[in-house]
Amino acid sequence: MEIVIRPTAAEVDSTAADIVERYVRSGATTLGLATGSSPIGTYRELARRHRDAGLDFAAAQAFLLDEYLGLPRTDPQSYYSVIRSEFVDHVDLDPARVWSLDGESSDPEAEADGFDSSIGAVGGVDVQLLGIGTDGHIGFNEPGSSLTSRTRVKTLAAQTRRDNARFFGGVDDVPHQVLTQGLGTICDARHLVMIATGVGKAAAIAAAVEGPLSAFCPASVMQLHPHVTVVIDEAAAASLALADYYRYALEHKPSWQSF
Ligand code: F6R
Repeated sequence: MEIVIRPTAAEVDSTAADIVERYVRSGATTLGLATGSSPIGTYRELARRHRDAGLDFAAAQAFLLDEYLGLPRTDPQSYYSVIRSEFVDHVDLDPARVWSLDGESSDPEAEADGFDSSIGAVGGVDVQLLGIGTDGHIGFNEPGSSLTSRTRVKTLAAQTRRDNARFFGGVDDVPHQVLTQGLGTICDARHLVMIATGVGKAAAIAAAVEGPLSAFCPASVMQLHPHVTVVIDEAAAASLALADYYRYALEHKPSWQSF
């Protein structure tokens, strides 16, 4: 696991965009896309590079992490809509090749199983962007989630519903249940890139990176993955015991070594 501490949120965005750009420029690639506020700056930076620097997504395809159960795709807060308005509409990624879970499926369990099969059928995700919840969730795998879970229905924690009330009219409008890639599904991706900024994420980042491997902090499952890059600003790094070591390691990173 490599911890990259950047001075500002803008530098977090550009570092995460550098990583995605490397995959996209290497040819046909399968991206794993997160929603929520954390990757928005990265998506804007990628869209800028598409406009100004010829970054071409035409050969790429993408899978989303999660979706609210019961929310129609036409709802602006469905992740189906959010990923389009925040990213896909601004680049040349084919919207028909951006796969998301159907929150209105009449058979959510079959929908979840089919999603895992679809990811497997294309050979898996090359690079997976992740945000982290204040309670340590990734995707919508709330504390207590099996570390080997597959895509399935989960019930949101009250804390997550409160955190996400800002996207809705109020907390009462936040759905109670979701479809989410499981922790095992997420960890099948070949490279995990976590993005977090702000002091509100500091405790979750410290638990994920330096705490015990535990279902109590689902993001700690990243400790088992062979290729993880955690890109955070100084505020999100505030509770890391080994922050000085991470800065030192980054400063002395061999020039030939990419993230
Ligand atoms: C969203 C997702 C979630 C968010 C997390 C953080 O697709 O998978 O895990 O990444 O809830 O949300 P923000 O970035 O809004 O703080």
